[in-house]
Amino acid sequence: MAQPDLTNEELLTTTRAVRKRLDFERPVDDADIRDCVRIAMQSPSGSNNMTMQFVVVKDDAKRAAIGEIYRQCFDIYKSMDGVYAGSIQKDTDVEQAQQDRVTSSADYLGQHMGEAPALVIACTAGRVDGQPGLVAASTMGNVLPATWSFMLAARARGLGTAWTTVGLMMEKELAEVVGIPFDEVQQVCLTPLAHTKGTDFKPAMRPDPDTIIHWDTW
Ligand SMILES: Cc1cc2nc3c(=O)[nH]c(=O)nc-3n(C[C@H](O)[C@H](O)[C@H](O)COP(=O)(O)O)c2cc1C
Repeated sequence: MAQPDLTNEELLTTTRAVRKRLDFERPVDDADIRDCVRIAMQSPSGSNNMTMQFVVVKDDAKRAAIGEIYRQCFDIYKSMDGVYAGSIQKDTDVEQAQQDRVTSSADYLGQHMGEAPALVIACTAGRVDGQPGLVAASTMGNVLPATWSFMLAARARGLGTAWTTVGLMMEKELAEVVGIPFDEVQQVCLTPLAHTKGTDFKPAMRPDPDTIIHWDTW
C-alpha cells in the first residue's frame, strides 16, 4: 500500500476528520486494522488495567444498520440550534468558511456512514452514566487516548477516520446491532475507516495557543 511519508509533526497536525475523501470502494485489510489496534494499545490506562475494546464492523448488513442509526441521530443533531455545526456563526469570513466546510463534510458523513468498508466502535468496560467526575474521567480516559492513537496509526497507513459521537444519541440501538452488552460497556466513538482519496491533508486553522493556556492561574 502507498503510505504517506510523514514526519511526527505532520502526522500530529494533519490527522483530520476525513469524510468526503473516504474511498468506499476499496476494502481495508484486517492486518492493517489489527496493527492500528496494536499501536492503540500502547496508550495509557488507569492502574495499568486495560479496559479498552474495539468493535470492527465489516459485515454489510451491520454497517448498513449502523449507518441508518447514525443518519437518524444526525437528523436530530441538525435540529439542535447552537449545537449543530451549521448553526454556529463564526466571527470572521475565514473562520466561517472553515465552519461551512466542516458542516458540509459532517452532513455528508451523516448520509454515508454505513458505506465505509469498515466501521470501528471504540468502547470501554464500565459505564459513566451518573458517575462522579473521577470515575467518569478514568473510565473514558482508558479508551480516548487509545482511540486517537488508532486514528494516528490509521493516517500513517493511508487510512482515514472521523471521530463521531452523534450516534450515541441511540447508543443502545448501536449496541444491539453488534451485541455490545450495553449495561456494562460504554461506547465513546464511532469512526468510519477507509483508504483516503489522496493523502495530502493540511493542518487546520486553530486559535493561538496562548488563548487556551493558563500559566499558574486560570
Ligand atoms: C468529541 C467529538 C465528537 C465529534 N462528533 C462528531 C460527529 O458526531 N460527527 C462528525 O461528523 N464529526 C464529529 N466530530 C469531529 C469534529 O467535527 C471535527 O474534529 C471537526 O470538524 C474539526 O475537523 P478536524 O478534526 O479535521 O480538524 C467529533 C469530534 C470530537 C472530538
